[in-house]
Amino acid sequence: MLSDQQLRQAADTYGTPLYTYDAQELDAALARVQAAFPGARIYYAMKANPNLTLLRRLYGAGVGFECVSLGELGRAAHIGASGDRVLVNGPAKSDEEYRLGGELGATFIVDRPGEVALLPPASSVLVRVNPALSVSTHDHLATGAAHSKFGVRPDQLPDLLAALASGGHRLRGLHLHIGSAIRDAADFRAAFGRVAELSRVTGPLEVLDVGGGWGLDADLGGIAAEARQAAAAFGAQLWVEPGRYLVARSGVLLTRVMGTKATGRDFTLLDAGMTELLRPMLYGAEHPVRALWEGAPGVSDLAGPACESGDLLGRDVTLPAGAQRGDLLAILEAGAYGAAMSSTYLTRPRPAEALWDGQTWTLIRQREPLEAIWAAEEAAG
Ligand SMILES: Cc1ncc(COP(=O)(O)O)c(C=O)c1O
Repeated sequence: MLSDQQLRQAADTYGTPLYTYDAQELDAALARVQAAFPGARIYYAMKANPNLTLLRRLYGAGVGFECVSLGELGRAAHIGASGDRVLVNGPAKSDEEYRLGGELGATFIVDRPGEVALLPPASSVLVRVNPALSVSTHDHLATGAAHSKFGVRPDQLPDLLAALASGGHRLRGLHLHIGSAIRDAADFRAAFGRVAELSRVTGPLEVLDVGGGWGLDADLGGIAAEARQAAAAFGAQLWVEPGRYLVARSGVLLTRVMGTKATGRDFTLLDAGMTELLRPMLYGAEHPVRALWEGAPGVSDLAGPACESGDLLGRDVTLPAGAQRGDLLAILEAGAYGAAMSSTYLTRPRPAEALWDGQTWTLIRQREPLEAIWAAEEAAG
């Protein structure tokens, strides 16, 4: 946990809003995953946070990447990731994604029968299965429900496997990912159990990839035990794709108080909002906060600077009263889907990012220059 002094130093050096990451926290999360899933291959779901410095650190520790866009594949290629450490996933892959994935020698996660005809020759393949389960998370975060757009129905598997074989592709195994920020371990048990039943259709397989989706307080040991049992049904090696679990706790969004006001509610106004951290608005995510000022406890809503009434980072948050303009607030557990989802809406530059390595701060992404936001418009003329 970064100290107030370290956070103040970062804010004074790089300005706010600022994403900070604690390298030791990242390493500790990876160590917990490695301990819970010994022998499993770890493919970091890059969508959670694609910063190149974090990617290089994870890759250096033996982790591969799950990529869901040309840009993410481009990042993997840019840092020199080898094909056996890259997965190409997504429900609607473009021609360029098939091409670059093929060039890298990556493994494709097939999400629908129609994809077989689109794969590069002799592709390595996992088939994503839709286990048709409702899970304990926000509807937008559930990816394994019968009504979700992901994966193939179990009854489609036999024809799909036959098509892969006759197309000359190498089926390595099955894949599932039931959602994100899942609180109840029973959801994983149910999903893994459903997929394990498919071993009757597939026979033995090399790989079972059980995705990610673990809540930050998840019982990893329990999830791993269930996953191992499912993998054993296929005689398969276990692969996992954590995103949020690896990076969320290492990240803090540092923001300064711009002022306070009272309408029908009490607001603390911040220089960060939905353009820096979309999760509260997108799916009601609640982030713990740490105020770097003192006062008797009070309650207020955290409002960003956007002209959008939904631009709130928290409701009924307990904070020390008497916040002054310039005071610093640390929004915790913001390392996943924070910077990654930041936008230039309102022509606000995406925030800078800095890494604490235990000794010093290093800037790992510059605050986006304003000119960079409109450069593509100027270039078009
Ligand atoms: C296929 C797949 N794998 C892994 C992840 C990572 O999920 P999480 O960040 O919740 O661990 C996602 C997230 O959307 C995903 O779609």
